[in-house]
Amino acid sequence: MTLWAGRLTETDAKVRLFCDSFPFDRRLYAADIAGSIAYAKALARTGILSFEERQAIVRGLEQVLAEFKLGAFVVSPGDEDIHTAVERRLTELLGEELAGKLHTGRSRNDQVATDLRLWLLGELPGIADRIRDLQGALVEAAEKHLGVLMPGYTHLRQAQPILLSHWLMSYFWRLSRDRERLEGLKERLSVLPLGAGALAGNPWGIDREYLARELGFSRCSENSLDAVSDRDYVAEFLFFSALLGVHLSQLAEDLILFSAPEFGFLELSEAYVTGSSLMPQKANPDPLELIRGRAGRLIGNLCGFLSVLKGLPSGYNKDLQEDKEPLFFAVDTLKLALPVLSGVVRTLKVNRNRSEGGLREEALATELADYLVEKGIPFRAAHRAVGKAVRRALELGVGLRSLPLEEYRAAHPAFGEDVYRVLDFRQAVERRNSPGGTAAARVREQIEKAKELLRKEEEDGEVS
Ligand code: ARG
Repeated sequence: MTLWAGRLTETDAKVRLFCDSFPFDRRLYAADIAGSIAYAKALARTGILSFEERQAIVRGLEQVLAEFKLGAFVVSPGDEDIHTAVERRLTELLGEELAGKLHTGRSRNDQVATDLRLWLLGELPGIADRIRDLQGALVEAAEKHLGVLMPGYTHLRQAQPILLSHWLMSYFWRLSRDRERLEGLKERLSVLPLGAGALAGNPWGIDREYLARELGFSRCSENSLDAVSDRDYVAEFLFFSALLGVHLSQLAEDLILFSAPEFGFLELSEAYVTGSSLMPQKANPDPLELIRGRAGRLIGNLCGFLSVLKGLPSGYNKDLQEDKEPLFFAVDTLKLALPVLSGVVRTLKVNRNRSEGGLREEALATELADYLVEKGIPFRAAHRAVGKAVRRALELGVGLRSLPLEEYRAAHPAFGEDVYRVLDFRQAVERRNSPGGTAAARVREQIEKAKELLRKEEEDGEVS
């Protein structure tokens, strides 16, 4: 029997198949039951339920919870969604006379919004921990390989030499912003919709502050109509996961590239590559490629869900049921992908000879321009002169270190014999000692700051 059997006849089977959400929203069972237990207690405070009735309902709900946990919950063909399923089972256990009182003043509209928020709140610490673990892996690697040089790129062309640890740490800070975003999102997520009813509120004097306390929400929604239709937190989480997915994808791409034999700066552990069915020599970075690929779906989910929201009239609309699958996908993907990346980073081998040997002399062209600046030449003129020298070196087929002095002098008379002294990769790195720069002391500073941040967060038990 449907919940609306009083008004309507049986729904067509095709409609049920199309509309039912139980196959995917059953995973909300713990949140749904927690919400119902709190609601039963709140109803008892209004006098709708006697103390004995409240106890019986709470015990019944606890039994349903146990059945779900044990995998013993038996699905019935009428279980449209998790709310209907729990109510149906409770009714079997307690009888309609008693179980039928639980829904007084409550709608599935405020119920589902409560469940989803509660469920997501419960998932945040696990995601935050996994981000933190990846950050930890990056810091460890940066510390271990401090001092190793590598080419720094812009437009995937060698730009200036940097420390490999500087490259690793650049991902730490991106992830740090992701953690901040998660923290900010939590505040807006921790708002209780229960008590909003179908849209207009609850007429039974339900104590919403009490409900919020019972369920661990930090405050109550301010407008019942907004409360049942608000899915901003889903969109926000999807944005958070899309951007985090982009960051993970970028890291994956760098790792794929720098571990390709043509670059060879890095080597991936055998545990994180897979072979080919045909070519015996292959060791493919499949897990990293999938992380890059999944980011596409994370982005797509955000766009898709915003499109679901954009045309909705106010109040609850069934379209909102489309919130769950993208949200579940995002949470599941992040929980699986983050530890894979942590593992890759923790087992990464650095091939110092290749990363330092891969540096090309033209990556020192800026040093030459700076050299002229020190001789009093305006930077723009220096840039032009060095451009000429670089061009000449290309024509002659030599590196900047082998370009004869008269060629330098032809490019600009201020060049002297000491010019060759600035053509040094490590010196180029060490000169960039502005705060946040790639000089070793600055990178060490970064690492210390990062470790301090991780330590503090550990102590505070943030995003809990
Ligand atoms: N399964 C529904 C959802 O996920 C629950 C709310 C249904 N409310 C309604 N009025 N049909 O959104």
